[in-house]
Amino acid sequence: MGIEARKTDHIKLSLERDVSYKKTTWLEYVELVHVAAPEVDPEDVDTEVEFLGRRFSHPFVIESMTGGTSLAEKINASLGEAAARFKIPMGVGSQRAGIVKPETAQTFRTARDHGPDAFLIGNIGAAQLIENGVAFAQKAVKMIDADALAIHLNPLQEIVQPDGKARFRNFYTVLRRLKEEIAVPIILKEIGCGLSREVVETASEAGVDAFDVAGSGGTNWTLIEMMRADEVGASEKKSLAEVFLEWGIPTAAAVVEAVDATSRPVIASGGLRTGLDSAKALALGASMTGLARPFLEPATKSADEVLKVLNALSAQLRTAMFLTGSKNVGELKHAPKVVLGPLKEWISQRATRGSRQK
Ligand SMILES: Cc1cc2nc3c(=O)[nH]c(=O)nc-3n(C[C@H](O)[C@H](O)[C@H](O)COP(=O)(O)O)c2cc1C
Repeated sequence: MGIEARKTDHIKLSLERDVSYKKTTWLEYVELVHVAAPEVDPEDVDTEVEFLGRRFSHPFVIESMTGGTSLAEKINASLGEAAARFKIPMGVGSQRAGIVKPETAQTFRTARDHGPDAFLIGNIGAAQLIENGVAFAQKAVKMIDADALAIHLNPLQEIVQPDGKARFRNFYTVLRRLKEEIAVPIILKEIGCGLSREVVETASEAGVDAFDVAGSGGTNWTLIEMMRADEVGASEKKSLAEVFLEWGIPTAAAVVEAVDATSRPVIASGGLRTGLDSAKALALGASMTGLARPFLEPATKSADEVLKVLNALSAQLRTAMFLTGSKNVGELKHAPKVVLGPLKEWISQRATRGSRQK
């Protein structure tokens, strides 16, 4: 199966089927402590943040999704315009298609055309970086004039994918080389199974500039690949995927692991669906919060539809900030919180030192 058919499958399944984890993000085990007499008016709450040297209106990121097909081009155009107008970062999907088939590069580039001053994040797979070297990453950056480059780690997806390539050995060596040779900041991300403390620590030493945990509780790539394996009659891959359907570090736990392991900024993502989810993730120590699938369907229509989602998220985040008496995101990050149940157990068994974030 070609890359284009695979990308079409991914968008179609994400739009039409329930592709969520059964397991949750565990953000429900974080309670922000209610402040009955907030010392701030709702309209004075300041949601601006700084991330990788740029100022953004909100601690939101439109997560990497797509490219390579005509529907993907429409999606990237809407997302690029929305990101520029709302002043938040946006990631394009894996750019392998645009590199291998340069005639599809415009389906990614359109995000830049529609968001000339947007902060755009390029995207390539770690397996492709290892196989093809630093030049591959340079091409991805050039294709969209990227402001940062995300490298995605997806070992479970690769091993259950009918046409996957589960090769990650030597990753850190390649990462160090990439850091020396590339001009833009590097973001290391998962795609739904989460980054652990050990991975974040090692990659932080290798020079990664920011981490996007993409934990479990949201879009489930093992489920999506299982559905694809079923459709193409790859029964062994299908039954392998079935066993690992609920594998992964729940997002809240992944955020705690990452902020414990690095002083570099951490993006919380994977199953965040409201501004309250964002507020909780920020209180756990994240610097930014990313969402992918909630933007997908609106982006098939227009930038205005994406902006409606962003405005709703903004109102929810502002309300959470008001109710915790947080005048700005810095104060929200230190707002009193209580961690309950399984998340508390996870933290105690993983013996975390506590957040290394400012
Ligand atoms: C349709 C779709 C395509 C995606 N493609 C990519 C990709 O090419 N590269 C990548 O790093 N992540 C990709 N992701 C993963 C997201 O960036 C994100 O990490 C993950 O979906 C969890 O966020 P969510 O639960 O808000 O969807 C994709 C997600 C969706 C929904």
